[in-house]
Amino acid sequence: MSIFPKWVNSIPAFALVSVAIGFAIVVGGFWTYATPAYWEVGYQPEQPINYSHQLHAQELGIDCRYCHTNVEDSRIANIPSTSTCMNCHTVVDDKSGYLKKANSLDGSTPSAHFASPDLAALREAHESGMPVKWKRVHKLPDYVQFNHAAHLDAGVSCISCHGRVDQMAVVYQQKPLSMSWCLDCHRNPAHDLIDKSQGGVTNLAWVEDTLAQDGYADNAGASLAASLSDNSRRTPPTHCSACHY
Ligand code: HEC
Ligand code: HEC
Ligand code: HEC
Ligand code: HEC
Ligand code: HEC
Repeated sequence: MSIFPKWVNSIPAFALVSVAIGFAIVVGGFWTYATPAYWEVGYQPEQPINYSHQLHAQELGIDCRYCHTNVEDSRIANIPSTSTCMNCHTVVDDKSGYLKKANSLDGSTPSAHFASPDLAALREAHESGMPVKWKRVHKLPDYVQFNHAAHLDAGVSCISCHGRVDQMAVVYQQKPLSMSWCLDCHRNPAHDLIDKSQGGVTNLAWVEDTLAQDGYADNAGASLAASLSDNSRRTPPTHCSACHY
């Protein structure tokens, strides 16, 4: 007669399995949340459609706000719906006039491009009403609050946080988006502020030239920063609750 009932024999195995499952959950959790795959410099997911900012924003000269319509008024910069793309990509002939420049680039008729598999996928998504499943590139943890409109209003350009997106065929993350990165700018924003009355925050080539001008940050930037600090709303916050709920 044994002291313990028979089922006790299965306890070690059960414990082992539990530990293994627990371990897998911890590792999996770390893999998903702690490894910085989602917010790492250079992160460049493959997108479902080969949409190019270099072509659309730079060569065709479409302003960022044509697609990212909310960026100046809202916390979040929206990704455009397929109907924004369809403003141009339903046309089979160049009635829009938008293809003038593209046509003159290689002299071909646009019909070749309309046969593109990427455009077929785009039209299919549009007809089915299903949004294109773009992969998110820039992502802050949920416990951080960030507001696009406040930054653009102060004269911080997309370039300071996303780089020359207009030169990217495929978007990648260029800045760390870490807490120290936010704070570096908040403590000394002069180097990143442009005078909006001189040009737009979305005009990235102009912004890059302006910020690169020798002494700009020391002269115009500093006086701009001073005038911004006069207005307490314009002083970038460094206290914890500004960015964390
Ligand atoms: C014709 C529409 C269009 C225009 C114009 C456009 N974008 Fe985009 N943008 C998109 C689409 C679609 C995506 C999602 C696919 C991708 O990441 O490439 C995107 C993605 C992005 C992302 C990455 C978002 C993420 O997931 O983190 C950034 C940053 C961005 N755009 C910035 C810009 C800037 C800056 C400009 C102006 C220089 C601009 N875009 C102009 C359509 C546009
Ligand atoms: C203002 C007009 C306009 C808008 C809006 C627009 N495009 Fe385009 N797109 C063009 C032009 C022009 C071309 C170049 C066609 C050519 O080379 O003849 C092009 C080319 C492309 C190509 C390359 C096709 C190929 O294989 O040659 C893709 C993919 C594409 N666009 C996707 C998109 C997506 C996705 C959106 C919406 C986020 C979008 N476009 C919004 C005008 C536009
Ligand atoms: C001060 C820094 C900063 C500036 C300036 C800035 N962004 Fe962003 N952007 C971010 C951060 C940080 C995120 C990630 C936000 C999050 O996860 O909540 C982001 C996310 C995005 C996204 C992805 C949004 C989504 O929901 O998928 C787009 C698109 C974008 N930005 C476009 C732009 C455009 C266009 C401009 C200029 C007109 C711009 N941003 C200016 C920091 C900035
Ligand atoms: C390149 C410079 C720069 C970077 C990078 C930057 N900021 Fe700012 N931030 C500013 C400036 C300038 C202001 C002042 C805007 C105002 O209040 O008018 C500001 C204001 C803010 C505010 C207060 C505005 C409001 O009313 O919502 C918050 C919150 C904030 N930033 C969060 C962040 C976070 C989070 C990051 C990093 C992910 C970040 N910022 C990165 C320049 C920057
Ligand atoms: C200007 C915005 C901003 C301010 C101010 C700020 N944080 Fe953060 N904080 C962030 C961002 C962005 C992250 C996310 C960093 C990442 O994902 O790598 C973060 C992450 C954190 C984390 C998570 C651990 C880590 O380092 O990644 C802690 C804890 C934290 N902050 C505490 C604080 C405390 C305490 C203060 C005040 C002394 C503060 N933060 C002020 C933007 C800010």
